[in-house]
Amino acid sequence: MPGKIFDTETGTPMGGILLREKRPRNSGRRAFLVVLGLLILATCYRLWAPCKATKEVPRDLQYEMKQALQKPGDQFWWDCRPNVECGRVVVPTDYNDLSVGMTVLAVTRWRSRYWPSKGAVFTNPGGPGISGTKLASGWVASFVGNDYDIIGFDPRGVGETTPTVQCHTPRTKLLFEANTVLQNGFSLPQFNSSRLHSPSTREYFKKQMEEFVALKKAEAELCAKNVGEALRYMGTTYVARDIDFMNRLFHGDDEPINFWSASYGSILGAYLVNMFPGRVGKVVIDGIVNPISWTRDPSHLWARDSLSSIEDTFEWFLSACARAGPAGCALAKPLERSSHAIGNRIDTFLDHLYDNPMSSLSVVRPGVLTSGAVRALFVIWFQNPFGWPSFAHDLAQAMYHNNSTPLYTKLAVNPRPWYTDLSRSAITCADSPPLSSIDPRTNPTVDDLVDEGMATISKVSLHFGVSSTISEPDGGCQFWKYVGGGVERYSGPWNKTLSNKILIVSNTADPVTPIASAKLLHNLLKNSSSLLIQNSPGHTSMSFPSLCTIMLVRAYFDNGTLPAEGTICEPDSKLFPRPGIDEQFRDTLSEEERLLLRSAEELGKIFTKQYM
Ligand SMILES: *[C@@H]1O[C@H](CO)[C@@H](O)[C@H](O)[C@H]1NC(C)=O
Ligand SMILES: *[C@@H]1O[C@H](CO)[C@@H](O)[C@H](O)[C@H]1NC(C)=O
Ligand SMILES: *[C@@H]1O[C@H](CO)[C@@H](O)[C@H](O)[C@H]1NC(C)=O
Ligand SMILES: *[C@@H]1O[C@H](CO)[C@@H](O)[C@H](O)[C@H]1NC(C)=O
Ligand SMILES: *[C@@H]1O[C@H](CO)[C@@H](O)[C@H](O)[C@H]1NC(C)=O
Repeated sequence: MPGKIFDTETGTPMGGILLREKRPRNSGRRAFLVVLGLLILATCYRLWAPCKATKEVPRDLQYEMKQALQKPGDQFWWDCRPNVECGRVVVPTDYNDLSVGMTVLAVTRWRSRYWPSKGAVFTNPGGPGISGTKLASGWVASFVGNDYDIIGFDPRGVGETTPTVQCHTPRTKLLFEANTVLQNGFSLPQFNSSRLHSPSTREYFKKQMEEFVALKKAEAELCAKNVGEALRYMGTTYVARDIDFMNRLFHGDDEPINFWSASYGSILGAYLVNMFPGRVGKVVIDGIVNPISWTRDPSHLWARDSLSSIEDTFEWFLSACARAGPAGCALAKPLERSSHAIGNRIDTFLDHLYDNPMSSLSVVRPGVLTSGAVRALFVIWFQNPFGWPSFAHDLAQAMYHNNSTPLYTKLAVNPRPWYTDLSRSAITCADSPPLSSIDPRTNPTVDDLVDEGMATISKVSLHFGVSSTISEPDGGCQFWKYVGGGVERYSGPWNKTLSNKILIVSNTADPVTPIASAKLLHNLLKNSSSLLIQNSPGHTSMSFPSLCTIMLVRAYFDNGTLPAEGTICEPDSKLFPRPGIDEQFRDTLSEEERLLLRSAEELGKIFTKQYM
């Protein structure tokens, strides 16, 4: 059964009724703990700071933990948030050679409200390179049902898991990127075809690419120096093995693996079900990345595939803006119904900015707004349709009011704050094909990279073909010592017959994980999978959620029911809502429905990296 809805933040049931709690525990001690918990919560409410949930090991437990974690399979847990345990689980660094040593995973577990639970659902926050411990939450329980335990963890190289990828110090990453092509993006005159294809443009593009390549090289050298051998054991193959290992450890060898994730998590999901096809339980993946391209192409070639829907996202952005008019979208002009006119103004602005970068006196730090940076901001904000009004406002300030500061501030606050270090590169480069010095695909020259950028502009996206490097900072694997992984690297096949059907979810206009990839994976897995389509822009279904999608995912986790082939869900929100006019529709929803939408939105923030 789907069970009751819980307060998503604390994991306690709404209305304060404790559901059938049947864990075999001492009830007197339990009552004491409940009272203590309430006292602590009440205190926290006043003194917010000391109560911030922490997944770090409390000081007084550190010695005990050290004693407990000696060999693969050892685990250590403590209560760290209401209804959530934090822990450490030891896994072999190399599953084929135990002498290599141990990896200690930081794991969190949201406890099911039922005993026994239906099992555990493993999660992943996308990225890659992002901490997953916050996913053990009532938000995910809203999706998969609170009769499961929900496991979040920091994948290898990330967060509190050790060894971790720490190449920079926290400060040097910011200093390293500031006012370089890593912050400013690639600037090209994209809307004047004769200029775009002129030799002087190519020369300027090449100069920017040389800087990009040199910076990527420096980062790779920094990681080789500061992290070294551990990089050999990063990558998605190992993370899939870690999930399998934990599932056996927690639930025994016969328990199938359940998994729910999105974005890069769809890659991890594709590895998981194809590496362990006989152990597949309930698996839902959303916002699909093409696993063939991921493993066959080096990461600097991914944009060709991953951006195949981004011009559609732009169309949604423009037409919704025109429909809303100036009351909902600051880029629209009164009495103008044409999205075309808005698009033309943006193109003109971008090319003007190419010739005239704007100085910006942001309070964060002063700097320059370039056309490459604005394009990169589009790629980032396209992912989150709820942020479109704010983005349109800041863009209108720059375009119509000669004020670049709000837009520049979006970039300068902290460029790519979601990647505090280079674990994304460690993972993507480990997954990439092995380096061959004679193969220009894996070992490209600057000219090869310029050619690839120009091809992506002309074949995939005129606006955004070379603009994803800030939101999706891939490439440079040719400089990584352990490119292609160390000991083990799964690279398909992707068409295994699975022990249980999985559910694939995709938006129609996802800017970075296109519907074409979802169709491809569905085609590979055939009737081992079902495809559910949500008719919306944004990155993953959760970025602009639909109750229809959420209820179908819940039904699948509940009793295995899959949506009929060809099911299309509509989102439940309006793009560019006009204040005071378009916001009332949620009044008609039940409390439960509102909570489900809110849970999806909170998860959407993680996958669109709005959450810091
Ligand atoms: C395109 O750029 C060329 C210079 O390279 C210029 O002569 C021409 O006027 C531009 N076209 C438009 C439509 O701006
Ligand atoms: C835009 O603002 C800058 C100062 O930030 C000023 O130098 C420039 O003249 C202004 N341009 C217009 C068209 O107002
Ligand atoms: C799976 O794909 C491989 C190629 O990667 C192909 O040789 C094989 O026939 C496919 N298997 C099935 C069952 O379609
Ligand atoms: C998938 O289809 C094949 C035939 O195309 C059939 O033999 C098999 O039983 C089906 N599997 C499932 C899980 O429906
Ligand atoms: C599966 O569960 C959903 C609710 O989560 C329910 O609406 C549906 O009727 C159930 N289907 C079956 C076959 O039990």
